Amino acid sequence: MKTRNNLNQLVRLNKYIADCGISSRRKADELIINGRVEVNGKVCTELGTKINPRKDKIFVDGKQVVQLDEPVYIVLNKPKDCITTTKDEKGRTTVLDYVRVKQRIFPVGRLDRDTTGVLLLTNDGEFANLLMHPRYEIQKSYKVTLEEPIKPEDIQKLARGIKLSDGITQPAEVYVIPKSKNKEVGIIIHEGRNRQVRRMFESLGYTIKKLDRISYGPITTEGLKRGQWRFLTKKEIENFKKLFEGESQ
Ligand code: URA
Repeated sequence: MKTRNNLNQLVRLNKYIADCGISSRRKADELIINGRVEVNGKVCTELGTKINPRKDKIFVDGKQVVQLDEPVYIVLNKPKDCITTTKDEKGRTTVLDYVRVKQRIFPVGRLDRDTTGVLLLTNDGEFANLLMHPRYEIQKSYKVTLEEPIKPEDIQKLARGIKLSDGITQPAEVYVIPKSKNKEVGIIIHEGRNRQVRRMFESLGYTIKKLDRISYGPITTEGLKRGQWRFLTKKEIENFKKLFEGESQ
């Protein structure tokens, strides 16, 4: 397993304080000279001191300062047999076994262990909350592969809304994928309830063989094999953020 970072990398104390968003490097030097900075519980007035951000604890005016990670936005083409969590006590493969970055990212919402396809990950909590907020009704589309052909009347039922234990589902777009012998169905929903797609089909008596998320808003897995990931482009991030403009407070 690759290490995520160079654990012994030293940085200058003034740079670290600046990177934490406390002040400029020059001001940080003043803070140091004025005895306002502590390293591991001891006042440090020596300019040019180097610290290890992973190990040393830095306090300015008695308050611990931590480095701000730059925000990152990622799309993973999630494979089967991996769980959408950051850690697993039972040692099962998680999505973070596929996406190795130094920032502390987490998945936006979840996909079931056996569901494949588009999964967004970020370290930007506010962005993730907005993406999942029902107000924005971000469209998610899935390809459902069934054991048996779907009946035309059931397509109507899925589209109009299915009564589940947590309420009736909102109208969805549902279509049969051509040349699939009616065993592959596309469904576009705007909600994000737990196991929603599986529960909708199961409530009509179908067995799902495969479930693949084809898109999340405008983001697809195009160009990504299962298990591969990429950073979202600036344009893709901006487009999402435009949706939320004026709503983030
Ligand atoms: N709906 C489901 O049932 N499962 C998923 O993983 C995603 C949507």
